[in-house]
Amino acid sequence: AQTRRAEKEPPMRMYDIIEHKRDGRALSPEEISYFVQGYVAGEIPDYQASALLMAIFLRGMDARETAALTLAMKHSGDVVDLSGLEGIKVDKHSTGGVGDKTSLAVVPIVASLGVPVAKMSGRGLGHTGGTLDKLESIPGLTTGIDRERFFHIVREHGAAIIGQTGNLVPADKLIYALRDVTATVDSIPLIASSIMSKKLAAGSDRILLDVKTGSGAFMKGLDAAIDLARAMVSIGEEAGRETVALITNMNRPLGHAIGNALEVIEVVETLRGHGPEDLARECCALAAEMLVLGERASTIDEGRALAEQAIANGSAFRKLCEIVAAQGGDVGYLENTSRFGRDAIAHEVAAPCDGYLGAIDTTAVGTASVELGAGREKKDDPIDHLAGITLLKNRGDAVRAGETVAVLHTADTERLSRALPTFQAALTFQENEPEPEPLLFARVTARGVERFG
Ligand code: URA
Repeated sequence: AQTRRAEKEPPMRMYDIIEHKRDGRALSPEEISYFVQGYVAGEIPDYQASALLMAIFLRGMDARETAALTLAMKHSGDVVDLSGLEGIKVDKHSTGGVGDKTSLAVVPIVASLGVPVAKMSGRGLGHTGGTLDKLESIPGLTTGIDRERFFHIVREHGAAIIGQTGNLVPADKLIYALRDVTATVDSIPLIASSIMSKKLAAGSDRILLDVKTGSGAFMKGLDAAIDLARAMVSIGEEAGRETVALITNMNRPLGHAIGNALEVIEVVETLRGHGPEDLARECCALAAEMLVLGERASTIDEGRALAEQAIANGSAFRKLCEIVAAQGGDVGYLENTSRFGRDAIAHEVAAPCDGYLGAIDTTAVGTASVELGAGREKKDDPIDHLAGITLLKNRGDAVRAGETVAVLHTADTERLSRALPTFQAALTFQENEPEPEPLLFARVTARGVERFG
């Protein structure tokens, strides 16, 4: 009788995986897991991981590869089980913007209407702000909460917002840090897997994505933003989590405030019914989607009406206070926002001519805010919670020569002298009124893409 020799697979080599992707081939799930596990274990050096990331950046990944990368990253650490919490838990994630404080308003709006939110948020990244840094400008408030207390707060109050627990998706922490210094951040498969691995590991049943597009977003063009949204929706749906994405405008900062305490104050104003119109509208649109995902509303219009009511009758603001108090924050600061105080320097920036505020380089506005002290230039830099920018005018507004368009807040003159030219170069003034742009561009679901306007 003939004996068959056992075919032994040759051991995998990182060199071959890089070569496959360099030559435009699709990687197998085994190759992708080999890379993710090996890199997290410290067995694959940064130079090989960087080469692979650049090959992915240049060659792309198909839907199967992106899904395999997401799952390998999700399983690189702890996975949260929220099944002990009652109700349909709905998560929300923004791809990152300037002045984007929507989570701080939307979470209490939907929680006040009975949809539980067990949210893990991030810190500022590059020119974009982070929900945790904003929340921590409220004295006493802590976002480093253990799982038991986190669950307790969600059960008692309907929502909590905490930092990622220590070992959630360690692969993303390592890969993101490498992407940040190897010019490989703005790649659709890499962004989609980074975001969705964290959303899947965080355990919510349904997911709303706010995909920003424009001069302040990672995805500058609408088509690329829609492609990113489709990639993320498809990963979510494949994993059995209903996922919806709204594509929103980041060609201008959202609202008037950029910077941590300044944004918390603006959220309070919004939940008290007198926030900036663009911010209030975007918050209600996002809340409406979450209310439908959480089966609290049957249509987006009904969801929006419920969100507007929760603002008008004060229940959303009371819910914000409840959540803040449960996380140890001093609610007195929300009841009387003048208690936050102001930074020592408030520098007014004037319009150079009569006309209109035209195109805004929103990334540069975010960078100016970081330079003022509102974000980190190096990983461990401390944050000045009072630093930032108040915009008195935004894209499309009429201005008179000499009129104040913005106030830059900072604690020191050296910071001001760096941020001022960055900020001034970010604004364009023009004679004619610029074409108005919508706040919401499109909605992406498993059923397809619906473009607005
Ligand atoms: N936000 C993330 O979490 N990951 C990315 O890659 C980009 C934005």
